[in-house]
Amino acid sequence: FEEVEERYVEPFHFTLDAVCEKTGARAGTLTTPHGVIKTPVFMPVGTLGTVKSLAPEDLTGLNAQIILGNTYHLYLRPGCDVIDEFGGLHQFMNWDRPLLTDSGGFQIFSLAKLQKMTEEGAHFQSHIDGSRHLLTPEKAMEIQVCLGSDIAMALDECIPYPASHEQALESLGLTTRWGKRSKEAWEMTKRPGHALFGIVQGGMYGDLRKQSAEELRKIGFDGYALGGLSVGEPRDLMLEMAGTSLPYLPQDRPRYIMGVGKPQDLVDMVNLGADMFDCVLPTRNARNGQLFTSKGPLNICNAQHRTSTLPVDEECQCYTCRNYSRAYLRHLYMSRELLSYRLNTIHNIAFFISLMEKAREAVLANDYAAFYKDFFQKIETGA
Ligand code: GUN
Ligand code: ZN
Repeated sequence: FEEVEERYVEPFHFTLDAVCEKTGARAGTLTTPHGVIKTPVFMPVGTLGTVKSLAPEDLTGLNAQIILGNTYHLYLRPGCDVIDEFGGLHQFMNWDRPLLTDSGGFQIFSLAKLQKMTEEGAHFQSHIDGSRHLLTPEKAMEIQVCLGSDIAMALDECIPYPASHEQALESLGLTTRWGKRSKEAWEMTKRPGHALFGIVQGGMYGDLRKQSAEELRKIGFDGYALGGLSVGEPRDLMLEMAGTSLPYLPQDRPRYIMGVGKPQDLVDMVNLGADMFDCVLPTRNARNGQLFTSKGPLNICNAQHRTSTLPVDEECQCYTCRNYSRAYLRHLYMSRELLSYRLNTIHNIAFFISLMEKAREAVLANDYAAFYKDFFQKIETGA
């Protein structure tokens, strides 16, 4: 006979391990069906079911605890029927740690042609072949259930910057109604123990951010994200919006800042009480030869590195820094060698992940303020 093995899945939950008394920075533990995540956490972006240039073993070697996938891209290509054959994105891409998927709203906003938002959903034309699609909240949940995301995101509308108060108000109403429909559809179809996060919008208006947060709280999500940030606004305004939104979110749920940002932004956002981050910056910049270091950014194509035997960052313990010089990495980059993408990406991801690990240690030691001061001093003065 055949024995059916039933794996016990631990349902999603979040516990706060510590809150820094001086700053409000948090350290937490997120439990998901594919394992535990220690926060604050940086989540590498794997839009198409791959963190560009890396294999899953590279990511586990980098201590990546969770990675991102995208509903919009994976729905268009290869399509849910393909991923369904494998039982989900985990098996399809050979990744057995937690996965978070974005709902598609933002990608339509930034990539698709001819997008039109109606009450029903987002109408758009594929950026790949021009085919027409309608992404409703229900459809966004169906796709994310198919993908098997440990953390799915509600469908939202992200507005451009700048936008009027009137436009932002109208849009956040739509995001709330889509959030409610997302939640209802999710509860009917979700895999046991998997989580759904709501997304706060409201443009650059503090009153609307508060309203959005309160409306989402009433619906009740497993976690809450801040969307509509890093869309072209000044950095101070972005931080101000995070600072006015976060206090309206429940203390006992994870808080995720979407699509942000530079190392300095992450350190500031943790200071304001945020727990989770994703951004294409480390992966994209790696492929353009822009490397992050504790003393600020380094452009590997710069002639000053031509004969340098130094590692990218003397404080970094990653595979790239342990084994390769700046001169070699510059040579690979200048020759457009494929290994350049991989080694640069390994370093940049390692930098973001270890930055959040250090932030967590600082919170647990109840001295995030000292870490904060140290970090900014080094990265701004390069010394
Ligand atoms: N990624 C970055 N910003 C956003 C946003 O506002 N909404 C969604 N869904 N994803 C994002
Ligand atoms: Zn390194």
